[in-house]
Amino acid sequence: MQQPLAPNVWDVQQTSWSNNDMPPRECAREDSSVSNPRRCSQFTFRHLSQMASCIPSSPLRVVAHIDLDCFYAQVEMVRLGIAEDTPFAVQQWQGLIAVNYPARSYGIGRHCTITEAKKLCPKLITQHVATWREADGKWAYREDPQVATDKVCLDPYRSESRKILVLIKELLPHGLQRVEKASIDEVFLDLSAHVHAILLERFPELLSPQPHRDLSELLPLPPISDLDWQADTLVDAGDSDNKTLAILDPDWDDVAFYVASGIVRHLRSSIKEKLGYTCSAGIARNKLLSKLGSSYKKPNQQTVIRNRAVAHFLSGVKFTKIRNLGGKLGEQVSRAFNTDSIPDLLTVPIEQMKVKLGDETAIWLYNTLRGVDMSEVNPRIQIKSMLSAKSFRPTLTTIDQAVRWLRIFAADIFSRLVEEGVLEHRRHPKTINLHYRPLGGQARSRSCPIPQGRALDDGTLFDLAKTLLTHIVQDGNVWPCAGLSLSVGSFEDSVSAIVCEHNLLKT
Ligand code: CTP
Ligand code: CA
Ligand code: CA
Repeated sequence: MQQPLAPNVWDVQQTSWSNNDMPPRECAREDSSVSNPRRCSQFTFRHLSQMASCIPSSPLRVVAHIDLDCFYAQVEMVRLGIAEDTPFAVQQWQGLIAVNYPARSYGIGRHCTITEAKKLCPKLITQHVATWREADGKWAYREDPQVATDKVCLDPYRSESRKILVLIKELLPHGLQRVEKASIDEVFLDLSAHVHAILLERFPELLSPQPHRDLSELLPLPPISDLDWQADTLVDAGDSDNKTLAILDPDWDDVAFYVASGIVRHLRSSIKEKLGYTCSAGIARNKLLSKLGSSYKKPNQQTVIRNRAVAHFLSGVKFTKIRNLGGKLGEQVSRAFNTDSIPDLLTVPIEQMKVKLGDETAIWLYNTLRGVDMSEVNPRIQIKSMLSAKSFRPTLTTIDQAVRWLRIFAADIFSRLVEEGVLEHRRHPKTINLHYRPLGGQARSRSCPIPQGRALDDGTLFDLAKTLLTHIVQDGNVWPCAGLSLSVGSFEDSVSAIVCEHNLLKT
């Protein structure tokens, strides 16, 4: 019997792989004709070496996406000590913003109001999000949250999000990790370099080819014919022969995903054990597919989309689930080609797509439909600006009221700068902007530079905001005030950054 990969594929040092009983296999060079293609791997030593530097075009690339299950709901349940099987939801005013899986089984979703949800499940427990309050300038979980006087505070979720990120980074080997925080409850991991190290450790035959050979030489086939995928959801390759072949005769991409799946399983169980949260994950060759994989089976599951399963997997994916195709672009595409089925869109030639969508979008769409995505997992903190805002109903009528909100905005922005680790990375925002919307009048903004060269704190942000407000008030025609927003920006000109996803969260 062949030895399956050890269940603990995590620790490179401790795990050994015995393949002494395996017969040696001969391999042809990449450019010579191979009569039996299954005698050799389809990958070369060059492909293998590309893994070490996480090259996005490497055919052996391994990317994982981890997404927390019903994140805000889990944070509140852990904080309050609520049992996992209790139907539970997080409330914001009269709506729900996170619903746990037991509550979802009653048909409760984010679309429900609190009244509708309680009708569907009378034993539903809810917790209102914490709020900042004009009168006391601090955030707290309150008995009587009011939209007129309060502003939603997401600090508890940001702080848990940061703990999860820190834990993931601690668990991955330092020199080999590449972690991108994609949102408050998601990360992408490029595991290629890490998996590469494990493969070389376990399979000495993968160490560089003999001196007289070159990197274009094909790798020997993996000395293994039975990968035990444990509790993973393994996406079907669609064709039963192909599937049997993959299970009985895997190539190195399958083994790489297998190793990655062990790493991800370990991360997920550590997050559960240390912080109490379940999450779901996708493992595939790029960000596009791994993200689709993590939402394929939820909660508390992980899905592997092997390269041979990509076409079949995508043919069953709802077009609008793909990033960027959920909104206007998706509508434009389905109108242009009269379909939103991926198999139908695969028949559209690239030239026709270019005519309808322009070159750049057409190339992106053409590749996306085929599961091609070369975008890098980018560990840099991608924050370009941060904004804290509030619409006022009833409106504000005095400068004192407005100043009290500025204190809250400054505290809110400052705590996010800290939580996101921006200040640790010596990336200080360089400008501050106050946007002012009088009722029925012309909105206006004022900006000024943030003094550099000394530590930034909420007091400094507040003082600058107050000065900006004074200037706006001096211009006249400001009351009553229907909306205020404070933002900081210009973090680093060189970073092609994406605006932090929380920027537009307003109460
Ligand atoms: N969120 C929100 N408003 C939205 C979308 C998301 O407030 N329109 C918050 C949710 O409360 C959520 C968190 O952001 O807990 C992460 O969102 P998402 O991953 O989309 O949903 P989850 O609630 O985590 O549920 P799932 O298990 O489906 O990932
Ligand atoms: Ca989630
Ligand atoms: Ca998410």
